[in-house]
Amino acid sequence: MDKLIINGGKPLFGSIEINGAKNAAVAILPAAILASKGNCIIDNIPNIEDVHCIERILKSLGCSIKTNKNCATIDSTTITSLSANTDDVRKMRASYYLIGALLGRFKKAKVELPGGCPIGVRPIDQHIKGFEALGAKVKIMHGSVLVEADELIGTNIFFDVVSVGATINVMLAATLAKGVTTLENVAKEPHVVDVANFLNSMGANIKGAGTDVIRIVGVENLTGCSYSVIPDQIEAGTYMIASAACGGEVTIQNVIPKHLESISAKLVEMGSEIIEDGDSLTVKSNGRLKGVNIKTQPYPGFPTDVQQPMSTLLTVAKGRSIINESIWESRFKHVDELKKMGANIKVEGRTAIIDGVDKLTGAVVKATDLRAGAAMVIAGLIAEGTTEVLSIEHIDRGYPNIEDKFKAVGADIVRVYE
Ligand code: EPZ
Repeated sequence: MDKLIINGGKPLFGSIEINGAKNAAVAILPAAILASKGNCIIDNIPNIEDVHCIERILKSLGCSIKTNKNCATIDSTTITSLSANTDDVRKMRASYYLIGALLGRFKKAKVELPGGCPIGVRPIDQHIKGFEALGAKVKIMHGSVLVEADELIGTNIFFDVVSVGATINVMLAATLAKGVTTLENVAKEPHVVDVANFLNSMGANIKGAGTDVIRIVGVENLTGCSYSVIPDQIEAGTYMIASAACGGEVTIQNVIPKHLESISAKLVEMGSEIIEDGDSLTVKSNGRLKGVNIKTQPYPGFPTDVQQPMSTLLTVAKGRSIINESIWESRFKHVDELKKMGANIKVEGRTAIIDGVDKLTGAVVKATDLRAGAAMVIAGLIAEGTTEVLSIEHIDRGYPNIEDKFKAVGADIVRVYE
């Protein structure tokens, strides 16, 4: 398995380009299934393992996919199978979007239950509630979700919890339903809006994405379109936090600063300077930052997906910081790894209490999941001495060329292929 070797303690200067959003791309690619005519040409797709995984799954269903750099052309008129049951399906979370997309277009699907990062219980009851409300029969048998409907009919659905996945999945199924579907208490994340924009480019009639209520007027069919995925809010947030942690001055390019407001606000509260300029922002930090309290929340609150990188920064901030992880109950698995480097953290249930130390020291640590991996890379960048980050296949699922991006701003980081 590959590993990253980092010699820490170097300030970062220069600029980092952000790629397309993982959590938008892994929904938009399966959403292309809904096009019964024409090709979907999707640009700004990040070169990451989760995207490769979804592309392989789509091919296994019979879609034709041509990729050129960050652009994929998908022809889903050639689909021959409504059953997704490969290792890739079991391995990743976003494979659940195949259910909504296949149900929407073909009124039938069989998809193995999804995998994903081990960050807590990850139920799909709200997805199922939505499909059933639209008129589908849903069964879980032999590890697969089976959905089938004679027809899908628009209705009102009030979600019991705010869920990104359920919002997108039910939206996919409802675009071709008869009549009007109203989804209430929905997720407002930028990637929910991006998927709605993509579907509208294909001819759907969706309004309200980005607010609490999404209204979908069903249409007869959808056709291919050209679309460009939004920049990755979480990748950007990770590099912002790394820049603040290492000190120096880094411009994060190709971002939508509005999507990053909760992260910018926290970094400013800690003592960093953030300068927004069109589609880039610059993070300036000099000296030790001060500890803050964080509660993860659905958008526009502080994102759970940068909680782990942020916790690394807090290990060396002045004073005590308290993190309350309100979305995923097991998203503190990286804490034991940080402790190996000298961090002073106590976890009680969904709360982590961090007392800032003067410095971290290099150690051999592992990426326990995707964002934990990013947290350990940041820990290596700020630590005294050498850090080896193992199990980096988790990082490759969501961060394109992480070592190259850090190297370009002055970090001493190399990938060792084993
Ligand atoms: C998406 O997961 C993201 N994954 C996650 O990013 C992210 O952490 C999460 O949204 C929250 O922002 C993808 O987009 C592929 P949820 P998802 O449904 O959709 C509960 C990363 O690091 N819930 O919004 O699976 C659930 O238990 C990954 O990139 C139900 O109770 O998350 C959780 O507490 C990790 N029933 C909360 O809702 C359901 O049917 C939010 O989950 C669905 C969810």
